[in-house]
This record gives sequence, structure tokens and C-alpha cells, in this order.
Amino acid sequence: KRLRPVLLIHGGAGRHAMTIAQATCLEGALAEGHRLLMAGVPALSVVEEAIRLLEGSGLFNAGRGSNHQLDGVRRMDASIMEGRELRAGAVASIEGIIHPVTAARLVMEKTAHVLLVGKSATRFANYFGLERAPRPRRSLVAQPKQLRPAAGVSQTLRLHQAIVRTGHLRAKSLGKETVGAVALDLTGTVTAGASTGGVDVMLPGRVGDTPLIGCGVYADNEAGAVSMTGLGESIIRVAVAKEIADGLASGLSPVAAANRVLRKVVERVQGAAGVLVLSPDGRCTIRHSTPHMIAGIIGPDGRAIVRDRFA
Ligand code: GLY
Repeated sequence: KRLRPVLLIHGGAGRHAMTIAQATCLEGALAEGHRLLMAGVPALSVVEEAIRLLEGSGLFNAGRGSNHQLDGVRRMDASIMEGRELRAGAVASIEGIIHPVTAARLVMEKTAHVLLVGKSATRFANYFGLERAPRPRRSLVAQPKQLRPAAGVSQTLRLHQAIVRTGHLRAKSLGKETVGAVALDLTGTVTAGASTGGVDVMLPGRVGDTPLIGCGVYADNEAGAVSMTGLGESIIRVAVAKEIADGLASGLSPVAAANRVLRKVVERVQGAAGVLVLSPDGRCTIRHSTPHMIAGIIGPDGRAIVRDRFA
């Protein structure tokens, strides 16, 4: 059977509609990814490259555009997984770089581990010379004005709890969100990746679903590839990516597998999420329980579809 390369990317599920700049960025990333796939480049490199373009744009909550945690520091999460040998790499709470997805790939390829965290992950990325992010000017850091610089745990915790009581951390609060991609290459291998600056009003050290294999991403040539966006805490509690991959492996279509698990996220944990799903035979879907999901797809014919709302 002829293999038909496919690439899906997203710039987050939330309550915001897509801007023209975001649409243009997604179209560019899809076109570049399609060119690479048709030239025989492995899905792993295509997913990494597509995510790098989104991380570098500053238009999404990843890389250059990442959120700040409550202490004013950007700590980012990313992961990548390929479906032939189930190899995976991830970083959590990494600081000061533009391309956490490349750090995740380096963890996969240069170490015997799957996940590196915090300052050690940052040192690891710096050792490999990954591009550094300029230090943001303090005036540009959207830090709650109740917090003084270098606020302690008790101050950040009290503010976080006060914000949680207002309901701000619920599904409806989702704004600028995670980026991600899934791809199927000419050899029939699928790959999934994701990169994020987290959610609003995070406690320092908070880690979401994105770097957790089986929650934010999963890829298996015998099931498919899944990349998540949305409220990380709800995605983790349902272990969404693996649950959808298991649905695919048991014979569900991408639409049925995605819908079943997204419903569970909403009904069981009052969460919100969006997902890219791609099966090894090229069937795919984009689904979300949020008002919008900024995403796109390109298949073998090279025609890109970019929208901010899918069924
Ligand atoms: N889905 C991204 C996060 O919750 O961190």
C-alpha cells in the first residue's frame, strides 16, 4: 500500500480565535513540513522542525512566547516520541532557551533517559549550545502586581489559592496555549511532539501534561500518534494521549478514539482539551472541547487547511 505522508500541527486549544499572524505562521510551518516529508525526511525531524517554527514565532505559549510562572520566571516543558521503537525524550521546567523541543530530542538521542527537569535540563541544553532566549525586561513580565520580586512560597501559594477560588484556573480560563505536531512519514513511522510555557498563574515548579509521555503525547506505529493541548492537570488525570492511542489500537477510528476520551476529560474531571490524532494509515482528526483550537493539516496533495474551530 502506498504511504501518504501527513502532518498536523496546532497552536493551542482555548477560548481565543486565531489571529492572522498565527494563521500565517501555521501555514508556513505546514508548507515546510510537507516539503520535508515529501523529500523523505523522517517524521521525527519534521515534527521537531514544525514545533521549532512555532516556538520561535513568539505567537504561541511556547518558546519565545511562553507564559511566566508566579515568580516571574519562564519554565517550559516539551516532549517528542517516535512510533517505530517507542523512543521518547522530554524536558520539564527548562529555562532560558527558545527551543525546548530540541532539548527533548537531545534527551532522547544522547541519553538513556526519557525526562530531564529544572536547572539540570537547562544546563544540559546549554551544553549542546541550544539557542538562548534573551532575558525578558522585568517591565514586560506579566507578574501579578500583588507579588514582590522574589516572593516566597507562602506569598505565591496564597495568591495561587486565591486565584483558584475565583475559578480562574478552570477550563474557561485557557488563553494562549501549547503547540504540538504529529506526522506520518514515507516509511510509515509516526511521531508526536509538544512544547509549552504552561498555564496562567502557575506556582513556580508546576509541570503540566506536555512532558509526560502518555499524557501530553504518545506515538506507536501499531496505534498512532497523539499530541495534546489544554488544561494539563485534567489531561494528566485521564492519561489522555495513551488512552486515545489504546483506542486506536483497539480499532476505533481517530474521531471515535478522540471523542471518547475528550468526553471523559470534560465529564470526569471537568477539564478541557484539544487533540491531534493520526493513525499509521494516514487517517487523522483534530478535536477539542474548548471554544477554539488553532490548528492545521497538510496531506500528500500539499493543500494546507488552517482553522480555529474543528467539529
Ligand atoms: N497543556 C499545557 C499545560 O497544561 O501545561
